[in-house]
Amino acid sequence: MSAPKKAARRSQEWFGRDGKQGFYYRSWLKGLGLPHDLFDGRPVIGICNTWSELTPCNSSFRELAEHVKRGVYEAGGFPLEFPVMSLGETQMRPTAMLFRNLASMDVEESIRANPIDGVVLLMGCDKTTPALLMGAASVNLPTIGVSGGPSLSGNWRGKQVGSGTGVIEMSEMVRAGTLSQEDFIEAEACMQRSRGSCMTMGTASTMASMVEALGMSLPENAAIPAVDSRRFRLAHLSGRRIVEMVREDLRMSKVLTRQAFANAIRANAAIGGSTNAVIHLLAIAGRLGVDLTLDDWDAIGSRLPCLVNLKPSGQYLMEDFYYAGGLPAVLREISQHLDLDAPTVNGRSLGENIADAPCWNRDVIRPLAEPFKPEAGIAVLRGNLAPDGAVIKPSAASPQLLRHRGRAVVFEDIKDFKARIDDEALDVDGNSILVLKHCGPRGYPGMAEVGNMPLPPKLLRQGVTDLVRISDARMSGTAYGTVVLHVSPEAATGGPLALVREGDFIELDVPGRRLHLDVSDDELARRRAEWTPPPAPTRGWSKLYIDHVQQAHLGADLDFLVGGSGDEVAGDSH
Ligand code: FES
Repeated sequence: MSAPKKAARRSQEWFGRDGKQGFYYRSWLKGLGLPHDLFDGRPVIGICNTWSELTPCNSSFRELAEHVKRGVYEAGGFPLEFPVMSLGETQMRPTAMLFRNLASMDVEESIRANPIDGVVLLMGCDKTTPALLMGAASVNLPTIGVSGGPSLSGNWRGKQVGSGTGVIEMSEMVRAGTLSQEDFIEAEACMQRSRGSCMTMGTASTMASMVEALGMSLPENAAIPAVDSRRFRLAHLSGRRIVEMVREDLRMSKVLTRQAFANAIRANAAIGGSTNAVIHLLAIAGRLGVDLTLDDWDAIGSRLPCLVNLKPSGQYLMEDFYYAGGLPAVLREISQHLDLDAPTVNGRSLGENIADAPCWNRDVIRPLAEPFKPEAGIAVLRGNLAPDGAVIKPSAASPQLLRHRGRAVVFEDIKDFKARIDDEALDVDGNSILVLKHCGPRGYPGMAEVGNMPLPPKLLRQGVTDLVRISDARMSGTAYGTVVLHVSPEAATGGPLALVREGDFIELDVPGRRLHLDVSDDELARRRAEWTPPPAPTRGWSKLYIDHVQQAHLGADLDFLVGGSGDEVAGDSH
């Protein structure tokens, strides 16, 4: 058997071998009908596919992959498509977020273990984007992102209905008795009219925008609808480009620098993006050793305005956003706040990519001088209720509640919340603050999107449309309200949130960045002495996750996954 030798091209450490080992590595692949010259040292491009019928948002990815392959072949590369765990946000229980880190391990090990020189990541539904970026970052090969694109605008009885946002609005109408069950069910098929991810500026669209703002995709990646021919053209061009990136050795770590993350944080403010981006970008940065903290979100992005008039904060949907110019138009508008020298995967700087970006609709993408919402980034709160931080998206909140003192109505966990929230006898009024515990990374487990608790029906009937809500959970990017999220440390680890009791007063001061539980230190110490940890899973992935997941302010990655393992692998398969 020949000894492994360091080849110029990574894939040649497999395919460039003599003897029995080379036979093993090539012969079975030739069973696919591949000619011998494909193994001659040309760049081998892995197409990392999250297609699944259980992730309907990613159900166009088989076709998308075929377009990537065309581009790879044209540029002289050798494409090999492989599946990884897919995460369907709407189907997976208890929450897709429980599996983000597991999928990232699948991605990392699938890339590392195989004869791949460069990677195309096909990403769409919420958690598939961070999972693929995290896994690929830990290997650090030349990598390009291709998002699946948003679905067509929802339309029900002549009105636009946004993914997620529409469900939340209509379900509140059902609970308030103003929409019938029959009409509610009819609206289901009218909201999701095509393949593609949620077409509001929810987490999927936010993360696709982050991919583009980070420089990890070709321009326009964020907004082209999933079924638009230009989405397939983008996939085709990305296939061509990744081959060049391998030849240039343009690795992920050369693109994903701290300046790229800072640009993404600013872009997130300008698009009114999801709070979920906070956790995901911290986790991705952690894989690359980029120094990024929760406080950077506030320091870098919180004073920037939101320019994009999209649901859940605004009026329009992703299709409108694309027709208005998409993310390049937004980035050009905020260019004075960006690091324009940041490199991107197409070999040009971010500034070069956006220099001539046009805007075709100023109602959808507002000028910087006349923003849709001022100071729209993520605010990071601290205080005795969240010593390690909590976040709020002020642009989705009610302005009159951004400074508020109220009496806590406490739910010990999500079951307790669901059992009591519709109870007419619930002791709650328009000044109350809803507090939900045990929905953080360890507590749920997986940190579910339940932080935007539905309001009590009796308050809805009184015309109350928002309450301050506080939890260690996340919130769907399609949701809205005065919702404090990601309280860290979480209740399940004995954080101060675990100690809140019914009737306590809480002070929220978003301008002052403060979240305070108005209970004396002595009383909190007494409560802490009485606290016992909740029961935890005892086997399988959930146990591994619970034992190793970090808190939200660190990105909720597993402690042993932070950093990377690189692309070198010792040993042969036989
Ligand atoms: Fe898949 Fe929203 S549920 S993108």
